[in-house]
Amino acid sequence: MLQISQKGPLRGEITIPGDKSISHRSVMFGALSKGTTYIQGFLNGADCLSTIDCFRRLGVSISLSEDSHEVKVCGKGLHGLSPLTDPVRLYTGNSGTTTRILSGILAPQPFQSILSGDDSIARRPMKRIMDPLTAMGADILSVQGNGCAPLQISGRPLKGITWHSPVASAQVKSAILCAGLYAEGETAVIEPALSRDHTERMLSGFGASVETAPCQGGYRSAIKPCQELYARDVLVPGDISSAAYFIAAALLVPGSEILIKNVGINPTRAGILKVAEAMGGSIKYLNRKDTDEPVADLLVSCSPLRGTVIEGDIIPTLIDEIPVLAVMAACAEGRTVIRDAAELKVKESDRIATVTENLQAMGADVVPAPDGMIIEGGKPLTGAVIKTYADHRLAMSFAVAGLVSRGEVLLDDEKCADVSYPGFFDTIQKLS
Ligand code: S3P
Repeated sequence: MLQISQKGPLRGEITIPGDKSISHRSVMFGALSKGTTYIQGFLNGADCLSTIDCFRRLGVSISLSEDSHEVKVCGKGLHGLSPLTDPVRLYTGNSGTTTRILSGILAPQPFQSILSGDDSIARRPMKRIMDPLTAMGADILSVQGNGCAPLQISGRPLKGITWHSPVASAQVKSAILCAGLYAEGETAVIEPALSRDHTERMLSGFGASVETAPCQGGYRSAIKPCQELYARDVLVPGDISSAAYFIAAALLVPGSEILIKNVGINPTRAGILKVAEAMGGSIKYLNRKDTDEPVADLLVSCSPLRGTVIEGDIIPTLIDEIPVLAVMAACAEGRTVIRDAAELKVKESDRIATVTENLQAMGADVVPAPDGMIIEGGKPLTGAVIKTYADHRLAMSFAVAGLVSRGEVLLDDEKCADVSYPGFFDTIQKLS
C-alpha cells in the first residue's frame, strides 16, 4: 500500500527512464546481429530484464553496467541462437512485447521452445500472432488450447506472406516482420492504422530491408529476407509513455512547471502530446533532435484543461497513455469521449474496466463503452483505495490522480510500477 496526497506545485527538471519498446528491440536485434551492440539509456524495468533473461538462455552474452542503463550485447548473428535444452521453457514475466516478438523470432529457429509468463500474460490473446505465424508455416500452439501462453514453438522454415492484421498492433507487426527476416520471399503486414514503428526503424538501422507506406486499408510494412544483421550502437530516448505521468501532473497540479529532458517524440508514439494540446495544455518543445528516433525536451506548465474527443488513427499512438488521459479528462471541464480503443481490454488489465472502476471510486463521472469511455469532467476527485490489478500504468495514473484529489489515494500495489518505471515514486517526491 502506498499513500499519495495532494501536493503543492511540482517544479524542476527530470530525466525519465529509457523507452521500453526501444529497449526490448535493442536487445533482441543486437542478439541477432553480427558484432557487438552497445545500448545506452536502457530501461532497467522488469519487462526489459525479462527480454535479457530470455536471450541469455538462448546463448547470447549480455552484460549490464552497475545501474543497468548501459548494456553490451554480443550478437550471435541471425542463425546463432543456441538451442534450448531441458527445460526449453523461457519465462517472459509480465511482458507482452517479449512474448509476442520473441515468438516471431523463435518460429524459424531449428529448435523447440515454450514461452510462458505471469498470470496476466496467461490471459492475453496470442492468437493474433499464432495465426499469421502459422500461415507462414510455423508450428506454434497454445499449450492450454485457449489461444494464450504458454506457447509451444517448434521451429520450422517459413515462407513470406501478406497479412492483414485486424488490429493496429506493433507487437503483432513486429512478430511477423521478425519472422520475415528468415522467410522465403517478402513478408508484409497491413494494419488498419500505423502502430509504433520502432521495429522498422531499428531493423533498417541494423541492415534489414524494410519499407512502410500508406495503402488501401491502412499501412503496409514489408521486409525482405535477410542474410545478416549488423550490430549498431543504440541510444534509447526517454519513454514518452513514462513522461506521460509527469506531463499530466504538471498540467493538473496548480502552479507546476516541469522540464522533462530527452523524451522520444516519434510521431507513432506522440499522440498524448497532440491530445494534451487539444485539451488546452501548454507544452513547449525544446532541443529537438532528429536522429534514429526523434527526441525533445518538453517544458510542461499547469493549464486549465477542457474535454476532447480521442478516436480513430490517433489511438495506437497513445494507447498506453489512455489511463492517464482518462485522469486528465476527469479533471478537465466538459466531456471527453474515448472511442475506437477496444484494445484497452487486452492490456496488462482490462483498462476500460479498471480505469472506470477506479475513477468512479474517486467520484468521477465515467461511463464505460465497449471501445472506450465517456468522462464528464470537472467533478472534484476524492480519495479512494485504488485497485491496480498489478497493472503498472494503473498504479502510476492513479498516483497522478492522488496529487490533485481532495482525500488520500491509497494504491494497493505500487511495486508493479517497476515493470516500466523503477523509481517513479522517488521522482514524484523529488519534484514536490
Ligand atoms: C508495444 C506495443 C503496444 C503497447 C505495448 C508495447 C511494443 O502493444 O501497448 O505497451 O513495444 O510493440 P500492442 O502491439 O498490443 O498494441
